[in-house]
Amino acid sequence: MKGNILLGITGGIAAYKMVDVASRLVKKGFSVNTVMTKGGTKFVTPLTFQNITHNPVNVDLFTTAVNYDVKHISLAEKADLCLIGPVTANFIGKLANGIADDLLSTIIMATKAPVFLAPSMNVNMYTNPILQDNISYLKEKGYKIIEPDSGYLACGTTGKGRLPEPVELVENIISYFTKKDYQDKRILITAGPTREPLDPVRFLSNYSTGKMGYAIAKAVKYRGAEVTLVTGPSNLDIPAGIKVIQVERTEEMYRETISNSSFQDIIIMTAAVADYRPLCYYKEKIKKKLKDGLSLELVSNNDILAELGKNKKTGQIVVGFAVESQDLIINAKEKLNKKNLDMIIANDVSAFASDKNEVTFITKNTVENIAEMEKIELADLILDKVLRV
Ligand code: CTP
Repeated sequence: MKGNILLGITGGIAAYKMVDVASRLVKKGFSVNTVMTKGGTKFVTPLTFQNITHNPVNVDLFTTAVNYDVKHISLAEKADLCLIGPVTANFIGKLANGIADDLLSTIIMATKAPVFLAPSMNVNMYTNPILQDNISYLKEKGYKIIEPDSGYLACGTTGKGRLPEPVELVENIISYFTKKDYQDKRILITAGPTREPLDPVRFLSNYSTGKMGYAIAKAVKYRGAEVTLVTGPSNLDIPAGIKVIQVERTEEMYRETISNSSFQDIIIMTAAVADYRPLCYYKEKIKKKLKDGLSLELVSNNDILAELGKNKKTGQIVVGFAVESQDLIINAKEKLNKKNLDMIIANDVSAFASDKNEVTFITKNTVENIAEMEKIELADLILDKVLRV
């Protein structure tokens, strides 16, 4: 991800969270220039941001320049996006009234870049009608307001006013820089394993973690789609802004996927679905006193993807994954045809639970092997391919 972010820090207790924001942005490849108000420096030192961003931190409007440039103008012009957080009621008041009396407010006045404001303060200050009027006015003028979260506030009260978590602030920025080629598209993704309960403490399942499906869901959300994620049990964080349906058994995944399928433009089944379930569920825990061992009788589950392929709507794209331990391409091609898919993404069983994956994209007429890459990167590549199917 490339881009110059101007990070503005004003005097709020949540300034400490912006250190994490700065770090995450740098890791994503953004260049970050931090500008702090005097109030901001009371909470976190400029040196902290300087070390994390590898760029000098500016506070003063009137300094003798080492290299001559008009700082508020050069920083304003350099920025592709400005994020100010926490932004205080005072700073919002200044912006709304055209007051530019320090470096940060002067930059914001001078910049042509989009400005994202993340207010954070005591709930009564936040709900104060004067502040709310100022926020409405700034929204009208094109400023993007990132709403505060509700919860426990540093002042000891509870309510709306918490600075959103760093990951969410960063997601707002990534989303802005991502091409919106999935705008107006509805997409359903399944992810994770399914579990087939055996008794109150045991189940049959597999090693899937959901990483691939969650990565696609997140990436396509950034690209503008309306996303539904049907997920089996997973420890991954639920991505923001996505409709998430949590299921456990294959039967539940079948029901939720099929009932949400007809209005989707695209369906991608990354889930590692259990093909069989125990014929009977033991209501009480199975005891080990069975000396002769225990045989389980299993019955077949529905094939969700085959059902989706069979009832494909006009123009709908259905994509499957194939996990194989042998004859990868032959088996995957067979699944593509049998399940009436537009594309199947074949991978070796070793991809389970890994952060990386090496895949082969297979359509009716093409087979393309792709070198191993991070699942996060692969998600975008899959989405590029799906658009060209
Ligand atoms: N799939 C499904 N419902 C099932 C089993 C699999 O929807 N009951 C989907 C998977 O989500 C995947 C594709 O079908 O997208 C292929 O899954 P895979 O486990 O590779 O193959 P199976 O169809 O289960 O066949 P086999 O186990 O014989 O390899």
